[in-house]
Amino acid sequence: MKQLNIGLVGATGAVGLEILKLLKKRNFPVKSLKCFASPRSANTLLPFGEDKIVVEELSDSFASSLDLIFFCAGSLTSKKYIPLATKEGAIVIDNSSAFRLDEGTPLVIPEVNPEALKNHKLLIANPNCATILMLMALSPLHRLAKLKRVVISTYQAASGAGLRAMKDLELETLAHLQGTSYERTVIPHPYAFNLFLHNSPLQDNGYVEEEIKLLKETRKILQDPSIQIAATCVRVPVLRSHAESINAEFHNPISPEEAYHALQNAPGIEFLEDYSKNRFPMPIDATGKDSVFCGRIRKDLSQENTLDLWVVGDQLLKGAALNAVQIAEELYKKS
Ligand SMILES: NC(=O)c1ccc[n+]([C@@H]2O[C@H](COP(=O)([O-])OP(=O)(O)OC[C@H]3O[C@@H](n4cnc5c(N)ncnc54)[C@H](OP(=O)(O)O)[C@@H]3O)[C@@H](O)[C@H]2O)c1
Repeated sequence: MKQLNIGLVGATGAVGLEILKLLKKRNFPVKSLKCFASPRSANTLLPFGEDKIVVEELSDSFASSLDLIFFCAGSLTSKKYIPLATKEGAIVIDNSSAFRLDEGTPLVIPEVNPEALKNHKLLIANPNCATILMLMALSPLHRLAKLKRVVISTYQAASGAGLRAMKDLELETLAHLQGTSYERTVIPHPYAFNLFLHNSPLQDNGYVEEEIKLLKETRKILQDPSIQIAATCVRVPVLRSHAESINAEFHNPISPEEAYHALQNAPGIEFLEDYSKNRFPMPIDATGKDSVFCGRIRKDLSQENTLDLWVVGDQLLKGAALNAVQIAEELYKKS
């Protein structure tokens, strides 16, 4: 693979730090690496293998001389700086939701729709973490029996809201156990020993933005506007890795055995289940792992052509950083 001058925007955050580690771990062809974050982090040092990289502030010319830039600094930063980067000719992989639904911006999970990369116009969007985990499990089944409708409930970890949310959970739990108080910085509701409906903006239709992302992004990735999704997203007091309870209805018959067979042969999927011990994937099983873990595929006894699945994955890895690096690998594999 060609050696690349890489930029990482949001390098000090939960996703950015994982991308840093993955670039080394996966031996990505890094010729040079520039790390960017907010002015708060300017001049701090980040480890990159044996090296230390100095964090820089973004400027209007930050992208000059960069070939490939990962963005993981939120939508506002993406909206402001991605147009400057693509104008300089850099390829951008964006983890935010800023451009995901734009026509002409590929929204890609390499195991699901790598063909969407073909006609990119320098910008490629990484899907929402809950969408990636769900579609890793559902797309092999969709190929077999054509997905019709999904009812999904998510159990989303603190790290899905970034590093400060993880700190909020840890420190609030500690304070709770010590009988003291703690002032949360980003999490809006009591979090220790509690859970709450996902804290993304509430829409006029009563759904939160995260739930609508699951619908719209799935339709775009699977290129099927007829798929229906009813989602309820919940933030649970888990530090890392999201879990999803999925009820999927198909146009055609599909048995649990066929689903097991398809998923056992699907890249990026692992099974972790022991029916004799009622032991199925848990967030601690998936944390730090590349695979999406599935288990407990059941026939829905209440209606035809419908399966229930339990899916758990590290949303900082396959749900964000790993998927972004895999997109880059896919883009450059022939160069
Ligand atoms: N966390 C997940 O599981 C996940 C999954 C999928 C997608 N995403 C998306 O990935 C992005 C990053 O999420 P995260 O969880 O890594 O958040 P995070 O832990 O809060 O990190 C945010 C990063 O953005 C930087 N940043 C903030 N404002 C900035 C600015 N004005 N200019 C430059 N850099 C700025 C921060 O720098 P400082 O350290 O200096 O503040 C930090 O490096 C978000 O768009 C998020 O929606 C996250």
